[in-house]
Amino acid sequence: MTKPFSQACENNRAPISQVLERILVDCQSVFEIGSGTGQHAVWFSRAMPHLQWHTSDRIQNHQGIKQWISDSSLENIHQPLDLDVGVGPWPEGLFGAVFTANTAHIMALSEIELMFSGVSKILMSGGLFCLYGPMQYSGLIAAESNRAFDAKLRAVKSTQGIREFNDLNKLATAVGMELIEDNDLPANNQLIIWQKH
Ligand SMILES: C[S@@+](CC[C@H](N)C(=O)[O-])C[C@H]1O[C@@H](n2cnc3c(N)ncnc32)[C@H](O)[C@@H]1O
Repeated sequence: MTKPFSQACENNRAPISQVLERILVDCQSVFEIGSGTGQHAVWFSRAMPHLQWHTSDRIQNHQGIKQWISDSSLENIHQPLDLDVGVGPWPEGLFGAVFTANTAHIMALSEIELMFSGVSKILMSGGLFCLYGPMQYSGLIAAESNRAFDAKLRAVKSTQGIREFNDLNKLATAVGMELIEDNDLPANNQLIIWQKH
């Protein structure tokens, strides 16, 4: 199998890492949802050696994630859990943070709801949920490139699309999380941080 590669990951990892390195300075363990190729996990594990980084995704992506982990020779990154947020199984134990990138516009709304509920159960008190990706605010997708991306996503599958910030924030509030940061990152993406009470 050819090792998977995402140019977008290469482009966005440094600005994401800048925020994570600041907010996860006292954190010990991170669980990632939808690790994709595994590139983000490897980069963040290397940048933050104080963290234990736990990867996950649906089974079809595991081989690629395992290749990235193996090639990294890092000891603080963990093999992927087979997690579909709509199905489970969620990991055992509690984490200081959960990270997910570019997943909300791929998941159906019902899956996003289950993701917030699952995240709230695996976060320790005071833990952080860090969600990265393009976002819609009060019905408006500001960047033309994101409007085109949204149209493409919906044409491919009607359940996909760039999500409304207010909807995600309501889901977070409903499961006991409070918005603490919404970071504007390059290429019209957001890194939103909620904290579990
Ligand atoms: C666009 S990719 C992003 C991958 C990676 N996080 C990145 O930023 O490059 C979307 C990811 O979400 C995962 N995903 C989609 N639906 C999911 C679900 N219901 N449960 C868990 N992961 C899901 C996909 O398998 C895929 O890895």
